[in-house]
Amino acid sequence: MIRRALGTYNIDIGPIETLLASYLHDKDYSQIVLIDDEHTEALCRPKLDLDPSLVITIQPGEQHKSIDTCSIIWRQLIEAQIDRHALVINLGGGVIGDMGGFCASTFKRGIDFIQIPTTLLSQVDASVGGKLGVDLNGIKNIVGLFKDPGAVLIDPGFLETLPVAELRSGYAEIVKHGLIADAQLWKETKTYDLSNINWEDIINRSVAVKQKVVEQDPFERNLRKILNFGHTIGHAVETYYLNGPNHLLHGEAIAIGMICESYLSSRMTTLPESVADEIKSDLLAIYERNDLPDLSVDQLMNLMSNDKKNKSGNINFSLIDRIGSCMWDQVCSLDMIKSSFEFYLAK
Ligand code: GLY
Repeated sequence: MIRRALGTYNIDIGPIETLLASYLHDKDYSQIVLIDDEHTEALCRPKLDLDPSLVITIQPGEQHKSIDTCSIIWRQLIEAQIDRHALVINLGGGVIGDMGGFCASTFKRGIDFIQIPTTLLSQVDASVGGKLGVDLNGIKNIVGLFKDPGAVLIDPGFLETLPVAELRSGYAEIVKHGLIADAQLWKETKTYDLSNINWEDIINRSVAVKQKVVEQDPFERNLRKILNFGHTIGHAVETYYLNGPNHLLHGEAIAIGMICESYLSSRMTTLPESVADEIKSDLLAIYERNDLPDLSVDQLMNLMSNDKKNKSGNINFSLIDRIGSCMWDQVCSLDMIKSSFEFYLAK
């Protein structure tokens, strides 16, 4: 087992039965509530060896990360008479972790919760750092709060339950951690073979990057913004195609964002153009080029202007000035943003 201490809580990596038993060992919770979804119910819950007082299973998918689903969860907590000394265990990907944590933190003004992330994306990113929330009006995570979990328990064994596309999607956040803060991690992960990875090691090193950043700036006032590299454009692209036939997984959209924002980095920082070219070809070797059908950069700009990182009407970017180093609050012109898509699309 690997243990990382982040503020008031531990991030443990290892077999889930051991991690959960060790977490519960000295606790005295009145009730245990398990929140999962229809995927983790079948594929992951049996591994927990747990007999909760209440199980809430929600439908999987980002479209259910909503206040409506929160109401369903809160009502079930009320009906089961869950008290303030209960524990909520969130078993699932980012949707379950963000929304289950949000529901727990607001129910009766806050009850304990722990995160058991089951997707690669949530293991290396969403579960660490205390961001909780739901989507509203088509805007991701627009309603939420910062609140640390009691623990994050990561079992790389859960990755065996994931489709390869999901695994590759989560991998984008590992690659991002390398690009913004760990050149060696980038070097090792850019040539990849998902079937032959020491996940425990890679997850641990990826979480280490996030931990170091979050420790210094838990509420994203400054440094934590570097975790958004690739996300200003990536989130907008993800939202743009959200409900259509060209729907993209989060990591696929972030890969596009990282290529575009590497171009912006080469225009705005000391990053050489040749390095932006290399990043593009390395990422395209993992994430097949998308033709971005019917893309309207003006509409994308609208989506980007809703980004929580913005200030005073400017669209803010986090840009790398070399591999392993990132700057934040960089304002780019519309023309430059348009050119970044041309850079992405150019063969
Ligand atoms: N996913 C970026 C962050 O947690 O700040």
